[in-house]
Amino acid sequence: MIKKNFSNPIKLINYYKLINHNLIYNNNAINRYKKVNFEISADKVQNLEKLKKTILSIKYCSLRSNATNMVFGDGNAKSKIMLIGEAPGSNEDQEGLPFVGRAGALLDKMLASINLDRKKVYISNIINYRPPNNRRPTDEEIKRYLPFVKKHIEIIDPKILVLLGSTAMNALIGNETVISKVRGNWIEKEFGNCRTSVIVTFHPAFLMRQPAQKKMAWIDLKMIRDKKTRLKI
Ligand code: URA
Repeated sequence: MIKKNFSNPIKLINYYKLINHNLIYNNNAINRYKKVNFEISADKVQNLEKLKKTILSIKYCSLRSNATNMVFGDGNAKSKIMLIGEAPGSNEDQEGLPFVGRAGALLDKMLASINLDRKKVYISNIINYRPPNNRRPTDEEIKRYLPFVKKHIEIIDPKILVLLGSTAMNALIGNETVISKVRGNWIEKEFGNCRTSVIVTFHPAFLMRQPAQKKMAWIDLKMIRDKKTRLKI
């Protein structure tokens, strides 16, 4: 075993250089009070609160009058990955949170398959109130809520935006396309000051009806995983 003579300061410095360790003779002050910042910026909190209040103040919307709760978002508002679904269903309406029912359970599994969970991403919907009988939102309803969802994206400012299903795709990418053509590709988009890479994939509720499509969704999930690694998210 090599005996290290640490009583000689020169030898000690050389030893630390050798092991690539520059801590001891570094002039930088040590901040012993540095805390890991798990909090989101005050700006973001304020902007999200403001947006929530604006949506809550919508008048003359039958979706709002028929719903129990407004469903705004869930997850980590600091995340660089945002997912957008269609609209709340009955469980979401009861709990006031997106994707907590059966489709949500599958979404959780999809996220877990690429080492993500809802604490690491941020989730919202195109529409914030449950459409009666879980019907698809009408074009008029989508138009009414679209400015809010765009603002929501701008505030969260994700680097990766995952659109789950055709309602989210049509609302944010355009009506003239179908999922089978768009999925499997990254689309660069801007929402206000947010520049983001968008990927469209199948909605978990659709995958429950068409399990054969899960293999395509797996391709999309791997693309998200690889992008996340590339962007060091
Ligand atoms: N389906 C959605 O699109 N969103 C939800 O929040 C739940 C189910």
